[in-house]
Amino acid sequence: MRFKMERTAVILVLMSLTCMCSGQRPEFFSVDIYSELKALRSLVGEISARLNATQRELEQERADKRVAFTASMLSTVNRNHGPFDRETNLIFEKVLTNVGNAYNANTGVFTAPVKGLYFFRYSGRAFSGKDMGLSIFKGSSRIVSSYDHQSGDTNDSISNGVALELDVGDVVYMRLWINSWIFVDSRYNYCTFSGFLVFPIG
Ligand SMILES: *[C@@H]1O[C@H](CO)[C@@H](O)[C@H](O)[C@H]1NC(C)=O
Ligand SMILES: *[C@@H]1O[C@H](CO)[C@@H](O)[C@H](O)[C@H]1NC(C)=O
Repeated sequence: MRFKMERTAVILVLMSLTCMCSGQRPEFFSVDIYSELKALRSLVGEISARLNATQRELEQERADKRVAFTASMLSTVNRNHGPFDRETNLIFEKVLTNVGNAYNANTGVFTAPVKGLYFFRYSGRAFSGKDMGLSIFKGSSRIVSSYDHQSGDTNDSISNGVALELDVGDVVYMRLWINSWIFVDSRYNYCTFSGFLVFPIG
């Protein structure tokens, strides 16, 4: 009796094996591999295109965030700039650094390319036969200044700096006070205006 049951089991196993090998494939093999591959290939293409677009955006964003300039005044001879009978915008024509091109050397105006926190600073040098007064402006607002009174000593230096929150398009530039002057040299770059993006906001 027992021998008979074992024999039946063996026969059943053999029958099912034969059945598997001859035509009735298990479910895994029943999908169309070629159309699956085709779908996968098109998905990979889509993902690759999206990844490339994201990478380009990221690179552009990173490029927007590289902003730094320093400029000095241009002269082939040593000269005094000023005095003038009204306050005048200062144009630092001699660009030492202008990453991001946010500083315009023709107008002396820095225009914020991204919303962010920026830092600006300047140095002025003059002989003391006249006053020396300098200010940083944001739009039409005077932000920080420094001043040296005409006094009869010889070489004067002044400076100031400010951290400023700027929106895209805000302008920052410098002004020379009325009836004051600065000294522009040909080699030493005593009078400079600098600024850079510390971090973007938003
Ligand atoms: C994505 O960029 C890589 C490397 O530059 C390039 O080989 C691939 O063809 C690009 N993919 C698409 C979909 O443009
Ligand atoms: C002021 O600077 C000039 C150079 O520009 C120099 O010749 C002169 O000696 C300086 N005067 C003093 C008192 O340091």
